[in-house]
Amino acid sequence: MSEAVDIVHSLDARYYTDPEVFRIEQQGLLAKTWQFAGHSSQLEKRGDYFAFEVGGQNLFCVRGRDDEIRAFYNVCQHRAHELVAGSGNARSIVCPYHAWTYELTGQLKAGPNIRAVPGFDKEKVCLSSVLIEDFCGFLFVNLDPGAAPMDEWFPEAREQLSAFVPDIERLKPLEWVEIQENCNWKVSIENYSECYHCQLNHPTFATGVVKPETYDIQPRGYCLRHTTECQNLDQMSYPIDLEANEHAGDYSSWFLWPMFSFQVYPGNVLNTYHWRALDEEHVVVWRGWYSINGVDSEVVRRLAVQDRATTVEEDIHLVESVQRGLKNRGYRPGPLVLDPNHGVRSEHSLKYLQSWIREAIDG
Ligand code: FES
Ligand SMILES: [Fe+2]
Repeated sequence: MSEAVDIVHSLDARYYTDPEVFRIEQQGLLAKTWQFAGHSSQLEKRGDYFAFEVGGQNLFCVRGRDDEIRAFYNVCQHRAHELVAGSGNARSIVCPYHAWTYELTGQLKAGPNIRAVPGFDKEKVCLSSVLIEDFCGFLFVNLDPGAAPMDEWFPEAREQLSAFVPDIERLKPLEWVEIQENCNWKVSIENYSECYHCQLNHPTFATGVVKPETYDIQPRGYCLRHTTECQNLDQMSYPIDLEANEHAGDYSSWFLWPMFSFQVYPGNVLNTYHWRALDEEHVVVWRGWYSINGVDSEVVRRLAVQDRATTVEEDIHLVESVQRGLKNRGYRPGPLVLDPNHGVRSEHSLKYLQSWIREAIDG
């Protein structure tokens, strides 16, 4: 008799192709998870603000006079005009429609002729705020007012990241690389979250600094942590001072469900992935590259170019082919390769990822 085995199949194609699923994600998943807003260095001075979008909602963050960073829905409490566009600096937020004026705390301060209104209590008018967290200098918002803090979603990620990038609080963005992919965002994050395809498709991976046989991906809360041993550090395309700190010679990555990832290369070089889903068949991936104080770094710039030309380029072809395949009537979701010993040639990380996807869409 054969032992009972736990065969897990990949998700049905409709999760990646159905506009209705995308609509559910916009209103459900994106409104309940921690979403990247921007970097704290964009709000250096009091009064600095920038607008952004999450799940189709227009939002903005601003640094207050008390130095606190707050996030609000970008809408006036009078008759719904949008308050700010792009980025800038302001002493107070003035609505372009009828000039109602708000403190940087969101409190209504003044408005033309509002005093003439009997019983008008401006203390009762305040912008709608949104939860915001500064995660090692990276700003994330959650549209769910009752959301658990990021440290509960992603246990220990903050501490680990600070250990891997000792200067993380002093980093500033140096380079942004925008990558368009004609695929569902989940095809892209699944591809990011398994390395079963790496040996065959990423020659630089298989022969480079990462020791493939030690590569592993494990969940911790809603974080998928990639770890590996490194090799050939003396043959890197840039010099590394291995004595600089404990993790100077390490590679690691923290994927924060659902659409963000921190990645650290040897030499404590931090780079990020931010997926933005445009619709059910298009996603834009923003690769961010950082340096201490944003100081120009030939090493970081070269890495960004090299990464775009190799791993990223190789992955685009894979995910776009998968998206076409998901619309092929001949596709039946196949079994995931779940090796009980995990390791680089196992897809156990997809089992977790797909269970989170099911949970988000099917409730
Ligand atoms: S809509 Fe903003 S002041 Fe009227
Ligand atoms: Fe890949």
